[in-house]
Amino acid sequence: MRVVVGISGGIAAYKAALAIRELVQAGHDVHVVPTASALRFIGRPTLEALSRNPVTDEVFDDVAAVRHVALGQSADLIVVLPATANTLAKLATGLADDLLGTTVLASRAPLVLAPAMHTEMWEQPAVQANVRTLVERGATIVGPVAGALTGGDTGLGRMAEPTDVVAAALAAAGAAQQPGALAGRTVVVSAGGTREPIDPVRFLGNRSSGAMGAELAAAARAAGASVTLVGANLHVPAPEGVELVEVETTEQLRTAMLERADADVVVMAAAVADYRVEGASDEKRTKEAWGERPTLTLALNPDILAELARAPRRSLLVGFGAETEPDDDALVQRGRDKLARKGADLLVLNRVGHDEGFGRVDTRVRVLDADGVVADASGTKASVARVIIDTVAQRLAAASEEHQ
Ligand code: C5P
Repeated sequence: MRVVVGISGGIAAYKAALAIRELVQAGHDVHVVPTASALRFIGRPTLEALSRNPVTDEVFDDVAAVRHVALGQSADLIVVLPATANTLAKLATGLADDLLGTTVLASRAPLVLAPAMHTEMWEQPAVQANVRTLVERGATIVGPVAGALTGGDTGLGRMAEPTDVVAAALAAAGAAQQPGALAGRTVVVSAGGTREPIDPVRFLGNRSSGAMGAELAAAARAAGASVTLVGANLHVPAPEGVELVEVETTEQLRTAMLERADADVVVMAAAVADYRVEGASDEKRTKEAWGERPTLTLALNPDILAELARAPRRSLLVGFGAETEPDDDALVQRGRDKLARKGADLLVLNRVGHDEGFGRVDTRVRVLDADGVVADASGTKASVARVIIDTVAQRLAAASEEHQ
């Protein structure tokens, strides 16, 4: 694959060398496009030696080969690491005043950006707005992560590890390049949030929009699978080419999922109500009947994912875990415990809070199996869904090979 590695001018530029080496060692044809300020942090000879290709930041070098557009047109993937606040702003605006700018504009390849900057800069509304713009246009953002920054301070803004950036970039490009990875497979995805009636007009529910599940269904369809989306109160439309089965309550979702437990892949992305209202009324309850301090008695709902894990014909079973745990290691450990408890094969872990997860366009997930983290991706729900489906497809392919 032809990979353009863009480097912008931050101290993390030296780490781009590690990413270039990893990409070359994996057999990719790597072309490095530094900005002028990146070349003040890392030398051209280093970049040429590692990438084994000539390196320039000049639009006016090699004009006969129309280099300013040729690189972008021929790229299968563009990854920019580090992406400074300035470069994010330029890319978000579509500026093309250097070779990196023209290359990105001339390309239709997946764009993966690894921001690095001080916490104050990262948190600036201007920077966040640029990131949102880029994400909405389909870019995948990897990091930044929390850690030591150059000024001796610590906080969010450190570039993600080069090997994580490379993994996310290859996943973004790989999934985009491999339609058919799930050809001939059946995939069932649950999405949305179940509602538990209190009476005919009221319910207990949750904030899940169903966007992640819908993107998973779309990604599985794009990979060639025959897909059923079991949607609980979706706020988003079902993707084209996907069969939609609408449900409302946990019991309805359970029935719909157990009926389809023989699919090759079952993904439980729905936010399932853990409790239902005991003795829900068939008639609308009035304030008079309810009184001043009404109480609802809740009964525990069955765990559908755990039931599917015990079904006779085992699908590849993917669960979701939305956690509020702030500490990263503790978050992953919780995910591993949940995976073991539920008996699923993979668990997609995401952190939710008031400004993360539910309803947001961009998201970060880690995919776990029994041995630990197997994929780590951030970006739009669509790009993250592609990474998850890619991981699923690899699992199925590996399992088929074992059987042969
Ligand atoms: O235990 P927790 O609710 O965090 O687990 C989340 C995972 O389990 C999700 O995949 C969700 O769809 C599934 N689940 C389920 N049945 C329940 C509760 C959660 O299948 N009653």
